[in-house]
Amino acid sequence: MNDAVEGDGERLQKTLARLGFGSRRVCENLIADGAVTVNGSVAALGRRVDVDHDALEVNGIPVGIRPGLVYYLLHKPAGVVTTAADTHGRPTVVELVPDEPRVFPVGRLDLETEGLLLLTNDGELTQRLTHPSFGVDKEYLAHVEGEPHAGAVGKLRKGVDLDDGVTAPAKVAVLDKSLLRITIHEGRNRQVRRMCEAVGFPVLRLVRTRIGPLRDTALKAGEWRELTPEEVLDLSKTAGAARPVS
Ligand code: URA
Repeated sequence: MNDAVEGDGERLQKTLARLGFGSRRVCENLIADGAVTVNGSVAALGRRVDVDHDALEVNGIPVGIRPGLVYYLLHKPAGVVTTAADTHGRPTVVELVPDEPRVFPVGRLDLETEGLLLLTNDGELTQRLTHPSFGVDKEYLAHVEGEPHAGAVGKLRKGVDLDDGVTAPAKVAVLDKSLLRITIHEGRNRQVRRMCEAVGFPVLRLVRTRIGPLRDTALKAGEWRELTPEEVLDLSKTAGAARPVS
C-alpha cells in the first residue's frame, strides 16, 4: 500500500473529524499524542490520507475504513436464542443481522431477556470484553414480582450468595415499586435473575439497557444498527481499562 504523499488526499484531522472522532482540534490532539496510525506508522499532524487506500487506526482500533470488521448493536427480543445455531430450531440473534460477514454475539442474554446485544467479527475485542478476569458494566431494567424492601435492595448492593459463590456488589436504583435498575460487571449465567430470586423478588421481565459505554433507547425489539467509529473506540478503551473482577 502506497503512503499518500503530501498534497494528495484529505488532511488526517479533517478525515477523523468527519468520521465522528470530535472537533478538528480534538483530532489534531489525538494525532499530536501519537494515537493515530496510517498503514501501521504513527501519523504526523498535517498528514494526508486517502480513505479508500489507507488503513487508519486510533489507539489501535480500525477507523471504519479498514474493510472486514463490523460491529452491530441489536435490540434482542424475548424468545430469541443467543447462539449462532440452535439445535431446537428456535430463532437466533444472528438471523436478525446481515449474513455476511459472519458475526458472533459478544456474551449472551437468556432466551427471555431482551435488550442490547453486541455482535461482531472482531475476535480480539470479543475476547477482551468477555475475558473472565475483566468486567465491563452491564445495566439492566428488572421488573420483579413484589415490591423489594430496603433489606432486599441492600443485599443486592452488598453481594448475594449464589450456588456459584458470592456476587460482586451490584449498583441498584429503585425506579418504581417493582422496577429496579441493576448494574453488574460479572457475566455469570442468569446472574440478575438468580440474584433477584435469591433476595425474594423473582424477575418477571429483564431488559439490558447498557453495555459499557453503549446505550440506545431508539432501537426497537428486533432492530439493529452499526456502531459508530467513536463507539467502537469507546468500547475498546472500556474493554482495555475495565477493572479486574475480584
Ligand atoms: N442476567 C440474567 O439473569 N440474564 C441475562 O440474560 C443477563 C444477565
